[in-house]
Amino acid sequence: MEKTNSRTRPFFFICAFLGFLLILLSRICVCSAAESDLYCLKSIKDSLQDPCNSLGSWDFSNVTEGFICQFRGIECWHDYENKVMNIRLSDSGLIGEFPQGIRNCTSLIGLDLSDNNLYGTIPSDISVIVEHVTTLDLSSNKFSGNIPPDIANCEYLNFLMLNNNNLGGEIPSRIGSLSRLNTFSVANNNLTGPVPSFVNIQITAHSFANNSELCGKPLKECEYYEDSWIWKHVDRASFIEAFVCGWVLFFTLVLVLCFFKFPVKVINKIVSLNIWKLRKEDLTSGSEEDLSSHQKILMLEKFVTRMSFTELENATSDFSEDYLVGNGMLGKVYKAILPNDWTLAIKKLNDSENLEDEFVSEITTLGGLRHRNLLPLIGFCVEREKKLLVYKYMFNGNLHEWLHSNEDKAKILDFRLRVKIALGIAKGVAWLHHGYKLHVAHGSISTRCILLDQNFEPKISNFWEAKIWSKNDTALSWSLFPVAEYSCLGSYKKDIYCFGVLLLELVTGKEPHELTSSRNLFDHSPCLLDADKDLLGKGINDLILEFLELSCDCVKFFPNERPTMLKVYDKLKTISQGRNDD
Ligand SMILES: *[C@@H]1O[C@H](CO)[C@@H](O)[C@H](O)[C@H]1NC(C)=O
Ligand SMILES: *[C@@H]1O[C@H](CO)[C@@H](O)[C@H](O)[C@H]1NC(C)=O
Ligand SMILES: *[C@@H]1O[C@H](CO)[C@@H](O)[C@H](O)[C@H]1NC(C)=O
Ligand SMILES: *[C@@H]1O[C@H](CO)[C@@H](O)[C@H](O)[C@H]1NC(C)=O
Repeated sequence: MEKTNSRTRPFFFICAFLGFLLILLSRICVCSAAESDLYCLKSIKDSLQDPCNSLGSWDFSNVTEGFICQFRGIECWHDYENKVMNIRLSDSGLIGEFPQGIRNCTSLIGLDLSDNNLYGTIPSDISVIVEHVTTLDLSSNKFSGNIPPDIANCEYLNFLMLNNNNLGGEIPSRIGSLSRLNTFSVANNNLTGPVPSFVNIQITAHSFANNSELCGKPLKECEYYEDSWIWKHVDRASFIEAFVCGWVLFFTLVLVLCFFKFPVKVINKIVSLNIWKLRKEDLTSGSEEDLSSHQKILMLEKFVTRMSFTELENATSDFSEDYLVGNGMLGKVYKAILPNDWTLAIKKLNDSENLEDEFVSEITTLGGLRHRNLLPLIGFCVEREKKLLVYKYMFNGNLHEWLHSNEDKAKILDFRLRVKIALGIAKGVAWLHHGYKLHVAHGSISTRCILLDQNFEPKISNFWEAKIWSKNDTALSWSLFPVAEYSCLGSYKKDIYCFGVLLLELVTGKEPHELTSSRNLFDHSPCLLDADKDLLGKGINDLILEFLELSCDCVKFFPNERPTMLKVYDKLKTISQGRNDD
């Protein structure tokens, strides 16, 4: 009897889990009926006074499907479907209590009610009302009472603004465990007690400014013993509950995956349901017949300008060797000066290989991103079977050449310059990983893909293997497939490993293959012997040691022991400042 019991248990869990999934799915399907969203907006309008007639365009007499998408402040998932994605009613002069009807907008991911005259308390079941929101902005209203602890259950929150209200009491400590949070403020309220410690971000004192009595990092120390605060404020029962549930779910999932050999590809497909990826897949996968090459080009043109082959050909004298400046894995790189004096780098992909995927990936990722530390992609060209990518020209070439081609060149890169380069790259990668709208994992960071401009400001290039997630989409699909986040987390941790190797190259002057073959840097704690001799003995040995330690943290064997890119960036920043103080 006992035996059968223990055997059936895993199956019980699997069934329970599948049941749970089904319930979740059916709930989502039922609730997203457009009726509900219509009712949601109606009740918002009914419950608020609107002296400025900001909701004048909210006319419910038109019953065409999708008509609510024309309302001021409403953004739908699709223009032809009454399903609300964002509500943005900032600065609309609205008066009243928090509109409870919002709970009927079941697909809502963003709510901005800032700069109005809303009063009363924030509902204590806020996480039920706005279950999926990634953005919640209630700032500059007249909300009073406490911040409901339930807000910590809005697990998808990236952006939470409660500043400029009249909120009192303590900040619920569990807010600190919202793992996706990257923007947070409660400034200008009447809050007291200790500030939560945040797991993934560092919140500056600015976000807590002008409250009556907040304390703890980053503000003045609390006068109480931290311990007693912890006992008072951590709800132990719910912590244990969450912990147990989490593990049970995790193991069930692992079991399901093992038993059914759930293809990772399927999960990835479901997870990457975002326009970028879809576009890319449309362009690259089997649907080739559906899309004429003309349509493909039209799609790519949404990202960057298409350029004429003849123009590029003329600018490089028919791609003559005189203009050749590099020979990369995927093709040759030419330097060209256009008639209007622009200096460009033109990468001509090898005709012989089928590099369609890499070509499209570069345009759809790098083409859509703009950051000081990313190489600007200016245009592309597809003509006569040829594929070209056009970038801004980087005067100082790539970092690999500076470090490893000859000693004189490496000597020019003193420690200060190396830290500056590392800091710039870290800034770029941190922006990719933690950026506001999209998450990007680069996938193949190395010294060869780092280019340097005339001021040695690094620019990241080569997005052939990049993975891109729209923040909102991961947030939604996560509720169904928690495992997905692991796959993208893995990609980030891989970037951090690669960045760690790059840091080691910077500080030791050795190539990656030398690093692994000689003294094994990954096993022992780093010491100055490992560093490049030319850097030592200039009174900054302690900084060099810190740099080495940081590098070794990034290449830790277990991915979850590696720091996040934001932490790496902060650390490099203090190292770079230490140098300036000397
Ligand atoms: C609105 O939401 C409430 C609570 O979730 C639900 O009971 C009610 O049926 C919904 N109303 C409509 C019209 O969908
Ligand atoms: C109703 O809304 C739709 C979509 O916005 C619009 O095309 C249509 O003209 C409207 N009908 C009336 C009667 O206003
Ligand atoms: C701030 O809260 C205290 C009680 O904690 C209350 O006495 C005081 O009136 C509040 N101040 C404002 C401006 O609301
Ligand atoms: C705090 O209050 C002062 C005075 O009202 C104001 O100048 C300052 O901008 C406020 N700080 C923040 C962070 O809002």
